[in-house]
Amino acid sequence: MSARALQVAGLTKEFPSDDGTIVALAGVDLTIAPGEFVSVLGPSGCGKSTMMTIMAGLDAPTGGRVTLGDRPVTGPLLEAGVMFQRDLLLDWRSCEDNVLLQFQMRGLATAPHRERARELLEMVGMARFARRYPRELSGGMRQRVAICRALVHRPPLLFMDEPFGALDALTREGLNVELGELAARAGTSVLFVTHGIDEAAFLADRVVVMSPRPGRIVGEVRIDLPRPRPIEVREHPEFVRYTGRLRRMLTDGRQEEAAARLRADGTEEASDA
Ligand SMILES: Nc1ncnc2c1ncn2[C@@H]1O[C@H](COP(=O)(O)OP(=O)(O)OP(=O)(O)O)[C@@H](O)[C@H]1O
Ligand SMILES: [Mg+2]
Repeated sequence: MSARALQVAGLTKEFPSDDGTIVALAGVDLTIAPGEFVSVLGPSGCGKSTMMTIMAGLDAPTGGRVTLGDRPVTGPLLEAGVMFQRDLLLDWRSCEDNVLLQFQMRGLATAPHRERARELLEMVGMARFARRYPRELSGGMRQRVAICRALVHRPPLLFMDEPFGALDALTREGLNVELGELAARAGTSVLFVTHGIDEAAFLADRVVVMSPRPGRIVGEVRIDLPRPRPIEVREHPEFVRYTGRLRRMLTDGRQEEAAARLRADGTEEASDA
């Protein structure tokens, strides 16, 4: 378990573009306590991936601070497992060797970890494909290999960006349960980005909701149900109340955005006239 809290304070990120500067994040404050599971919901393009990449130490913010415990994060966090929105598997390595890449990247021998890699591939239903190459797999199958790669070194910190997006509903449910159990058992601190409201609430201690770009955190819901949870928890009235609140937060954000856009369009039209 990560004994240290991961914290961002006043995080801003701007990207230069041909049409001027894109402000992706505008003052994000977020702390993930040791062992806490935090899900992030927000409309497409609001800066979720950008925030995750910066928190994992893979990109620098324009402003603000990222700290792990009392140390600033200035480069890739080696104690983290990261699963990106695109799977980033290496096409010239078998599935198993893609999973074992974690150890090679850290200059460690792979042989002692082969069995663990196979166990994980088995868990996600990919044991038969261990020696096959990513180009032979479907999108969902590739994602499952990427999940194994993010977990194989038992990271105390885990970053997952829409990890189950390309999966069919039942496989997704199964992996939600597996991930929930794994993370609770190991006390892993997790930042989990998703578009699935149910999935976000099912897994998390806390769900944070981001505004449309420029991304800020505009609300949060604490899911006060013991973890790990059985899949049936999603039918409990309490759980349904949590997801209802999250849905309303997202809808309100969208309506505010639409109203702001209408006001802006109105101003342009008025000045054209
Ligand atoms: N490297 C980059 N260069 C320029 N603009 C970028 C870059 N990365 C992201 N952006 C812009 O920053 C904003 C946030 O992007 P980001 O990928 O973080 O959104 P997201 O919330 O993850 O969206 P989605 O749900 O669609 O994955 C977008 O407007 C995007 O175009
Ligand atoms: Mg994204």
